Amino acid sequence: MVGRKVGIIGAGFVGATAAYSLAIQGTCHQIILYDINTDIAIGKALDIGQSISYSPKGTIVTAAKDASDLKDCDIVVITAGVPRKSEMTRADLLMINAKIIKDVVGNIMKYSPNAIILCVSNPLDIMNYVIHKMTGWERSRIIGMAGALDGARMAYQINQKVGYGSGQTSTMLIGDHGQYMIPLPEISAVGGVPLGQLISKEDMEGIIERTRNGGAEIVKHLGTSAYYAPGYAISTMVAAILDDSRIIMPSSVILDGEYGYRDISVGVPVVLGVRGVHKIIELELDAELKEKFKASVDSIQEGIDILTENGFFES
Ligand code: APR
Repeated sequence: MVGRKVGIIGAGFVGATAAYSLAIQGTCHQIILYDINTDIAIGKALDIGQSISYSPKGTIVTAAKDASDLKDCDIVVITAGVPRKSEMTRADLLMINAKIIKDVVGNIMKYSPNAIILCVSNPLDIMNYVIHKMTGWERSRIIGMAGALDGARMAYQINQKVGYGSGQTSTMLIGDHGQYMIPLPEISAVGGVPLGQLISKEDMEGIIERTRNGGAEIVKHLGTSAYYAPGYAISTMVAAILDDSRIIMPSSVILDGEYGYRDISVGVPVVLGVRGVHKIIELELDAELKEKFKASVDSIQEGIDILTENGFFES
């Protein structure tokens, strides 16, 4: 376990929950929390560190007082960002979060130049693309966490509907982490039984709708966005990378010809391993799915275009 060091940038709800999940499972040897608000990072690191006093794995949890403490991480998870406020336009939010990512990425390149970056900040696919542009690193080391969460949400809805199969439901989704996400019930299954044999088309429509609005549904009740499921999804991906376990997980990655697209980050199934993205799986899409995938890519491209028009990539 020595040398398995995970940095988490942004010690808010999602970052801290990911840290807690990693710590109680003993996935890594060391976790370093960094936040622009140092007190938040210190307080959360103390609390999480003390929560594992009875854990046999003894993960060390510390706070970075300075970005230089993020030295030599194997994986850096980025959850830094600001939520949208009512007076902000989409362009305002994009520019603010892209600037945060730029700032954060500069530190990662300086202090953990060999790390794999797991991006969680929203709007996810666009922020992952920004990281790709800022670092210039090989695309296998830049991964966006979205499908792992959306897939878990879809599985939850399926299990709620049928009343069984929790823990043995496999789902697949492609596309953006937003309104154009494309859940694929055709290749999802409960205990290996294809969904089409368990759920009616009508019920499936409802499940897809609730999956797509999964984040918003939680915000409506909680007043803030979700963090338990995102935190656990992050820890699952981190474990897969550190263990080189080669699991397939829908993730946002930079395409270079796959699915007919280049220079865009979008959700597709990938194999996760010790170098990050071990392989991108190209699903065969029929004409209707190709059309949906295009709409999804176009919506991400729109966001990238806003950044370009505002001169973000020039400075
Ligand atoms: N460097 C480091 N940390 C920063 C920076 C920065 N430049 N800017 C903001 N932060 C920190 C904030 O201080 C805050 O503690 O990022 C943290 C974000 O935490 P929360 O506001 O609690 O947001 P959270 O719910 O954790 O979501 C974080 O993950 O799922 C996505 O949409 C979500 O983009 C959001 C991100």
